[in-house]
Amino acid sequence: MLAELLIWAGTQATRPARQLGYAKAAVSLWSRRRRWAREWAEHEANTRDFALMTVGACRRRDTLWLLGAGTLADLPLAELSALFRHVLVFDIALLPQARAAVKRWPNVELRLADVTGIVGPLSEWRLGMPLPIPSIEAMRDLDPVPPDCVLSLNLLSQLPLLPMDYVQRQGLTVQAAETFGRAILQAHLHGLLGFDCPVGLVADARRIWRNRAGEVVLSESAVLDVSLPAPEKSWFWPVAPRGEIDNETGLEIGVEASRLNTAGVTFSPPAPTQ
Ligand SMILES: C[S@@+](CC[C@H](N)C(=O)[O-])C[C@H]1O[C@@H](n2cnc3c(N)ncnc32)[C@H](O)[C@@H]1O
Repeated sequence: MLAELLIWAGTQATRPARQLGYAKAAVSLWSRRRRWAREWAEHEANTRDFALMTVGACRRRDTLWLLGAGTLADLPLAELSALFRHVLVFDIALLPQARAAVKRWPNVELRLADVTGIVGPLSEWRLGMPLPIPSIEAMRDLDPVPPDCVLSLNLLSQLPLLPMDYVQRQGLTVQAAETFGRAILQAHLHGLLGFDCPVGLVADARRIWRNRAGEVVLSESAVLDVSLPAPEKSWFWPVAPRGEIDNETGLEIGVEASRLNTAGVTFSPPAPTQ
């Protein structure tokens, strides 16, 4: 508990991001990863392998963007820092452990950034005001130098969660919050498609709850039924084995990995809703 409090205090996040709960969520991710490192290892290795497969298609290797730093556990930074001149890793909350770890690679830079562009305006939002519109341009503005490759790793399903919590706490209905959440997800997918370089997407697709006997008790979309590109690879991530939520139920994630903007791959998600 004390360790978590210290990590929370040392986590870098803007005031609006803290207000919406991103620093607390970053510490929670760190704690869960520490508890379940063995159970998460295969998922992290699959993500790292897919990241390396994606960068294999990048002809120019000047700048790589990684979206979703978290604990860094699923990012093959040693390999990527050797392949690219400059590696930019973005996250809305930067754990002190991640900031310390990247120091070993001089060309890897952690950047504090909200890839949706809505968290600042949302923190001022009150019921009755128009909601901020998730923009597909938000990601392009992350850095003036366009990337040669972009990897969005285990980030997509997380993007709407705290914004949806916040607007519901302010009194918005669940249904309206979900419409807002879908717009955030679609803006990210459109933003990725808008890059003029290969893009790798690893994303939670389904949440599956199983009982003690291993039977599925509930299975739902992890992305509010937004369509994802056809996966090239998929696997299961035991994100909360029994004992994490309660002693009866375990939660696993159906993860899907796809490549965009690469020859032969087509995907056109519906236009972002407002
Ligand atoms: C499930 S974690 C995955 C991160 C990392 N790949 C890992 O496995 O440790 C999701 C990450 O998305 C970040 N995140 C959530 N919303 C974000 C936003 N609007 N902009 C940038 N990062 C965001 C969180 O801070 C968190 O580190």
